Amino acid sequence: MSTTPAPSATPTTVTVLGLGNLGQALARNLLDQGHRLTVWNRSQDKADALVADGATLAATPAAAIAASDLVVICVLDYTTVRDLLTPVGGALAGRAVVNVTSGIPQAARELGAWVSEQGAAYVDGAVYAVPQTIGTPEAFVLYSGDADAFARHRAVLEPLGSAVFVGTDAPLAPVYDVALLSGMYGMFAGFFQAVAVGGSAGIGAARVTDLLVRWLREALDALPGFAAEIDARDYRTETSNLDINAVGLANILTATRAQGVGVDLLAPLQRLFDEQIAQGHGSASLARTIESLR
Ligand SMILES: NC(=O)c1ccc[n+]([C@@H]2O[C@H](COP(=O)([O-])OP(=O)(O)OC[C@H]3O[C@@H](n4cnc5c(N)ncnc54)[C@H](OP(=O)(O)O)[C@@H]3O)[C@@H](O)[C@H]2O)c1
Repeated sequence: MSTTPAPSATPTTVTVLGLGNLGQALARNLLDQGHRLTVWNRSQDKADALVADGATLAATPAAAIAASDLVVICVLDYTTVRDLLTPVGGALAGRAVVNVTSGIPQAARELGAWVSEQGAAYVDGAVYAVPQTIGTPEAFVLYSGDADAFARHRAVLEPLGSAVFVGTDAPLAPVYDVALLSGMYGMFAGFFQAVAVGGSAGIGAARVTDLLVRWLREALDALPGFAAEIDARDYRTETSNLDINAVGLANILTATRAQGVGVDLLAPLQRLFDEQIAQGHGSASLARTIESLR
């Protein structure tokens, strides 16, 4: 991964295709950086505020692409990206396409190959921000694909959110995206479970959440250690093994059911623990659970 500081950008021409919530925020940031911004959106009125502040509204995607070497795309999904680009493929030659639309790795692979066939460089992106946090220190964006194009345009991209290049294979950013969002949804699953248990005893969600956030911040510290065990495939431990965690989780599920709350979100984890224990790994680290998913 690239972590070297980016040079600051000199004003350049940039095109943004797609002015939904995220595209608007990206375009606004680029305009505020002082770049000559060209935009296109299916619903033209979404460009009004940007145009009032100096952006140029292109009448067609082809005209928008022709205006800049760097073309940032942020639309609903990859099907929309393909529908927009396919009729204007020739216009892409020599340009860098940075697609921050969310999608699956296979779609990024196919789009990256197609863009390359048009003679353009392809960089895929995964944005870790909401529109309101674009340009703030909290925001970061993962990029993968053409390393030269990323390096060439990094200074323009960096102010959108800290730019992290994760590799030259175009689908890598979406792979990371699936991984990071899986972690997020797993956390949300635990949150819903916790709030439901608290609610079953008349404890408000806010009170549970107050303490849960404190506890989860502590629990997060265990992850790098687990990751090291998983990478080394060395699950020897003298502290928190699968046996003890399986007993703990079984207690939690029993107590949860007794409170009249469903265990749908947590029961699958118990099945993984039990599988590892049945294979004789009860004394191994909790991290060995991963072996039931590989
Ligand atoms: N919002 C976030 O916090 C966030 C964060 C990370 C990643 N993302 C990803 O960024 C992408 C855009 O998100 P968003 O929040 O900006 O979505 P959004 O507000 O719903 O905007 C969707 C954009 O796609 C365009 N679009 C949809 N269907 C189209 C079609 N058939 N032809 C042409 N344009 C079409 C829309 O045009 P119209 O304006 O004409 O409808 C609009 O510009 C998504 O892939 C999303 O998953 C969003």
